[in-house]
Amino acid sequence: MTYISRRPRRNRKSAAIRGLVQETTLSVSDLIFPMFVQEGSGLKVEIKSMPGIYRFSLDTLLEELQEVTDLGIQSICLFPNYPEDKKDKHATESHREGTLYLRALSTIKERFPDLALMTDIAMDPYSSDGHDGLVENGEILNDATLEILGRMALAQARAGADILGPSDMMDGRVGYLRDLLDDAGFSRVSIMSYSAKYASAFYGPFRDALESAPRFGDKKTYQMNPANVREALVEAQLDFDEGADFLMVKPALSYLDVIRTLHENFDLPIAAYNVSGEYAMLKAAAQNGWLDGPRAMLEVLLSIRRAGAKVILTYFAKEAAELLQGK
Ligand code: PBG
Repeated sequence: MTYISRRPRRNRKSAAIRGLVQETTLSVSDLIFPMFVQEGSGLKVEIKSMPGIYRFSLDTLLEELQEVTDLGIQSICLFPNYPEDKKDKHATESHREGTLYLRALSTIKERFPDLALMTDIAMDPYSSDGHDGLVENGEILNDATLEILGRMALAQARAGADILGPSDMMDGRVGYLRDLLDDAGFSRVSIMSYSAKYASAFYGPFRDALESAPRFGDKKTYQMNPANVREALVEAQLDFDEGADFLMVKPALSYLDVIRTLHENFDLPIAAYNVSGEYAMLKAAAQNGWLDGPRAMLEVLLSIRRAGAKVILTYFAKEAAELLQGK
């Protein structure tokens, strides 16, 4: 008789024991829910390529936020949708006093003071070129863009933002924004930098939501090449040195190795953006009955945590919160 002394299955024999040996957990407090706001009233417009995700006018957004916070979600990230006639080359609307986005931020902060309110810093929702930076002769200008991002950042900080999310990938923007904020007395406003943001096909549905696709070319001169991971270390080191409070990897699923690499090399909290296309493909398969949606969702979110992300930005936040609370 030969015995098998090491039997890993013993640690899987009941739910209780599986619970004891579970290495990674997912909790509602890890999640940031990205939400979309648009002009108007009484509106809740479903985004075709993102079933279950809507663009809200400010009034319905506040109702939705009641539901979101009742589920225990404590952090959201807001993105605006602007009509074409509000867009221009300089993204003027991004920092105009009284503009939709800034009004939405201050109203949310007033009504939900405990919510961690994250913003987006980039020109694309307001740019007639649909690019994240200022375009001149077909080129995206770096340093001239920083000035515009700076105006957005100060306006958002004044409106009550807790965390600013520069998603533009211009060089030097974290340090530039940090200095501006500190000079203006906003040293307590955080920066979650999109450190390793890749030029990805998985942003398609988001660009539908914002109607913000680039009018020409692509974003490859500022977003990273999906083939590179060492370059992510360079970007992350810069953001670390320039004062970022969180380092983000985006997208998440095709970049779990990048999440792991940043987790191993930096002691800041790592965030990952489970982007629109990742949401869309799971939803599409689930709607077709090709896979079990809720199980696949939890597996995906857990894998992002296991790779080393503490924070996950995900359109699944509400559904995940419901499941985690056993609703
Ligand atoms: C743009 C921005 C994008 C996303 C967040 N901010 C798209 C892009 O870079 O074109 C994508 C988010 C998603 O796909 O869910 N500054």
